[in-house]
Amino acid sequence: MKALTLAFSALSLVYTSTGASSVMTTPVLSDIKLLEKAGIPMIARDEATGVAYAELTPKQEKQVAEQAHEWRRCGGYEALPKRPEKAGIIELFAGLRAQDARNSAFERNKAQQPKVERNTRVAAALNEVKEEKLSEWVNWFSSFPTRLHSSATGNDAINALKTRLEESAKQATFPVQVSLIDHRSTRQKSVRVHIEGAKRPSEIVVIGGHIDSINHEEGTRAPAPGSDDNASGSSNLLEAYRILLSQPQPERSIEIFWYAGEEAGLLGSAEIAKSYKSAHKDVIGALQLDMTLFPGSGEFVLGSMTDFTSAWLRAYLVELNKTYTGAKIVDDKCGYGCSDHASWYRQGFPSVMPFESTFDDMNHNLHTRRDVVDGKSNFAHSAMFAKLALAFAMDLGNSTARAP
Ligand code: BES
Ligand code: ZN
Repeated sequence: MKALTLAFSALSLVYTSTGASSVMTTPVLSDIKLLEKAGIPMIARDEATGVAYAELTPKQEKQVAEQAHEWRRCGGYEALPKRPEKAGIIELFAGLRAQDARNSAFERNKAQQPKVERNTRVAAALNEVKEEKLSEWVNWFSSFPTRLHSSATGNDAINALKTRLEESAKQATFPVQVSLIDHRSTRQKSVRVHIEGAKRPSEIVVIGGHIDSINHEEGTRAPAPGSDDNASGSSNLLEAYRILLSQPQPERSIEIFWYAGEEAGLLGSAEIAKSYKSAHKDVIGALQLDMTLFPGSGEFVLGSMTDFTSAWLRAYLVELNKTYTGAKIVDDKCGYGCSDHASWYRQGFPSVMPFESTFDDMNHNLHTRRDVVDGKSNFAHSAMFAKLALAFAMDLGNSTARAP
């Protein structure tokens, strides 16, 4: 606690020294090591979790990004939708510590290991995942010139997806709701499918990924096909949705999200997870799919990010994979909240993120016009993730298991 208090005594100092300045700053979360290395002053830091809060000038944003690139990461920080109050930062850090404590407690107590029993209906459903469908959908998402959240056409893919989802929902034999979610921090909307649970509708199993794309090399008007990042995860979710519609109604509710504005700092998912927390929604777990098309560590070798994810859900993913998919799962880290799973994690919900490869082996064409379907794209590899998401929804969606 001491580090936290100490760091906050610098709060007023930092504000008085930059408060009068007319430079626009972005409130961000990043990791202490990265900001230290880039020489950025931190307004608040939490040694226990290694996370810091800072307000970056455009020049500092560049410095952090450059340092992150040197460490082979992407942006290296995430923007907060709005400048938090001091109390908000303390709450955020406290939430992260509580999650860390839950993870350590889980790792100490081996008796809590999740179990997955093979179910023939689930196994049969996984066989319905089709590479051709994934290919069709990745190409479809990629065909929008950009899915950039701030672009004038940034909602084109979103509206088209909604129409497509509603069309298929007509064949469902149980209640399925498709909705667009408005945000304060971006004009782009998120898309949500809600499949109502038959027995325990208030318990929600979430699968999601971001729908937006970005071109960091050439700016906002340049093409941003984002085939791997993240037409691939978006398509895995669409495939899981298609198959879920032909299954019996799950006991728990299942929600599928295509989040807005992830590339600009997890914008959509941060608002969604926060509102779910405020509404006391019972999210059993959130699985994130972001980049699944490039088998950089080998076909069927997946990374499982261990930061901003919960130990219980990671162990559960390992069990699901043993029972149904048989991939090789390698633990790795992003080193910062690199995708929307971090939004759920921050609000206290269990999250998990299977990834196309280990961090270093990922597709380095992300965020450029070269992130397209090419000779290295592997739809059999990507299909693994659709299967994992489907197994996650069907198994957890029909179970009473929850984080210890
Ligand atoms: N797909 C990336 C995240 C990613 C990259 C995950 C490499 C795992 C390995 C994602 O869309 C992204 O670019 N995220 C941002 C972070 C965000 C907070 C702005 C990033 O990594 O810079
Ligand atoms: Zn991404």
